[in-house]
Amino acid sequence: MPTLPPYPIPEERLARYPSLAGRTVFITGGGSGIGAAMVTAFARQGSKVAFIDIDEKASAALAGRLTGEGRTVWWKRCDVRDIAALKAAVAEAGVALGDITVLVNNVANDDRHEFEKVTPEYWDDCIAINQRPAFFAIQAALPQMRRAGGGSVINFGSISWQTKGPDYPVYATAKSSVNGLTRGLARLLGRDNIRINTVTPGWVMTERQLALWVKPESDAEIDHNQCLPGRVLAEDLARMVLFLASDDARMCTAQEFKVDAGWT
Ligand SMILES: NC(=O)c1ccc[n+]([C@@H]2O[C@H](COP(=O)([O-])OP(=O)(O)OC[C@H]3O[C@@H](n4cnc5c(N)ncnc54)[C@H](O)[C@@H]3O)[C@@H](O)[C@H]2O)c1
Repeated sequence: MPTLPPYPIPEERLARYPSLAGRTVFITGGGSGIGAAMVTAFARQGSKVAFIDIDEKASAALAGRLTGEGRTVWWKRCDVRDIAALKAAVAEAGVALGDITVLVNNVANDDRHEFEKVTPEYWDDCIAINQRPAFFAIQAALPQMRRAGGGSVINFGSISWQTKGPDYPVYATAKSSVNGLTRGLARLLGRDNIRINTVTPGWVMTERQLALWVKPESDAEIDHNQCLPGRVLAEDLARMVLFLASDDARMCTAQEFKVDAGWT
């Protein structure tokens, strides 16, 4: 496993959001990658964090680390392809930690696939991870957010389809629909004081990206495409998500916020 670069900004220089303290946050795919950075960032803001993942080892280690710091973290093994299990986890987390008011639809799987070899079964499986869970997680969390008087939903998009990456057409199809989900629900959810936004990462140097997809020649590609030097890290996404979840963002809804160092 490659070593992750340390986040370049010391904790004491980063923003604190008093409105996030005590708030219940639910994150899909929170066990590793950007999800784990968000679990950590919310927990350190004093939020009560629930997350689900299929990676039991990484999830248990993350929850153990944060609990050891005195943070409130709840997690459960849940495969988001199972919608009944996903909905049950949302309900269970709400009972354990109090009504969910922040939902982060983060889970994804960016496995590469060749267009001509995609079968209907592969299509369904890819959509079942990369598209379908967000819709039903929002549906499941809605009664809790209503009861609490409002909330914030953050859906993870991707620059991959916007930059026309050729190696994952089903993933690209799923990810391009995230803005549709965000905009299609914004007016409806807004009536209940629930905000909904898309956060779109650039190429983020997570464990998985470094292990599978970042090659020696990728440095030149990243340097050419980004406007900023340096690398986008999972924590950079977490900072944007904290803002959108907080009361500071009270009039932000129906939008796409990119953290891609200017790639697109
Ligand atoms: N890393 C990037 O460069 C990048 C770029 C663009 C968009 N994104 C988006 O950001 C989000 C997070 O990406 P990441 O790079 O951290 O992903 P990741 O693959 O590193 O992490 C995803 C997490 O989801 C979990 N997971 C996978 N399948 C699951 C399932 N069926 N049920 C439950 N959990 C499951 C994994 O175990 C993992 O912990 C995704 O929505 C992704 O599309 C990432």
